[in-house]
Amino acid sequence: MYILRKPTWQLSENEVTDETLFHKRREFLKLGAAALVSSSVVVEKLSAMETTPRTPLSFVKTSYGEGLELNSFEQASTYNNFYEFSTSKEKPAKMAHTLITSPWDVGFYGECENSTILGVEDILKQVALEERIYRFRCVEGWSMVVPWIGFPLKKFLDIAKPNAKAKYVAFKTKYDPQMFPDQSRGLMFGAIPYPYVEGLRMDEALNELAFVAIGMYGKELPKQNGAPLRLIVPWKYGFKSIKSIDYVEFTIKEPKNTWQVVNPVEYGFYANVNPTVDHPRWSQAKERKLGSFLKTKTLMFNGYEKEVAYMYKDMDLKRYF
Ligand code: MTE
Repeated sequence: MYILRKPTWQLSENEVTDETLFHKRREFLKLGAAALVSSSVVVEKLSAMETTPRTPLSFVKTSYGEGLELNSFEQASTYNNFYEFSTSKEKPAKMAHTLITSPWDVGFYGECENSTILGVEDILKQVALEERIYRFRCVEGWSMVVPWIGFPLKKFLDIAKPNAKAKYVAFKTKYDPQMFPDQSRGLMFGAIPYPYVEGLRMDEALNELAFVAIGMYGKELPKQNGAPLRLIVPWKYGFKSIKSIDYVEFTIKEPKNTWQVVNPVEYGFYANVNPTVDHPRWSQAKERKLGSFLKTKTLMFNGYEKEVAYMYKDMDLKRYF
């Protein structure tokens, strides 16, 4: 793979940390400067970050994540990894208006009884929306706590009725360079291969924690967070939580996910959060929650060991990273 420009994931730990501090310094300066003017200006500035109006959603609250301290909407929606727009974390929030989320179809293919293409509105007629507060840990070492709104991934996959041959499920982000400018940059110029692909083993996909989010903080997802619908797999590194999905395929063989294709030495298929297995270039023992200066210990399976460890009990987690 020829990569001219280092994506942020390819940075060393020091570089990653510097970038985080840089971001915080900017936030601090921005807020500090605004505070000098007046506190109402600060409020105005923060709400202005919500670039596109988002429709409020009706949903049932659940006990998932009770007691966790939430990150703010501003933090979760202005510090994003969405390579289809940019490798910068600040740019997706400013660029994502080119993503047209309605109408939006999702196709279900491969090893299933009911191969079909459905509009998001038809999918939403078949599911009940709930809110789940989950920890989210990026492989780069930052984390956040977000109240997502959506439905269990199992309900989404049940629409297509996977058959007994389906051992894996692959997801793709929409491919449309008009909407996603980086999709026309090309591999020779440092882009990652598109469309972005992710995958899960079927038992992982059917685990109760695997979730399809269509909203966060009470309203629809902001475009930069993966509208109209994205995966949330809270016990895995954030790159598994693929955004803006329009293609689902049930497969016999393990699919190759994008980051594994880009750098198979550093990124695997499983990507379970694991403080005892370091990234080749940095430790995974600790993380920095967005908005915090101090690092805290990373938890095995991101704190979801009770719910997911059984799926990996016979596996060498160093080998299947
Ligand atoms: N999905 C697509 N299609 N493109 C991406 O670049 N980035 C991944 C994941 N899903 C990514 C993606 C990574 S690396 C992370 S950490 C999360 O999205 C970030 O989600 P957030 O922006 O909502 O925090």
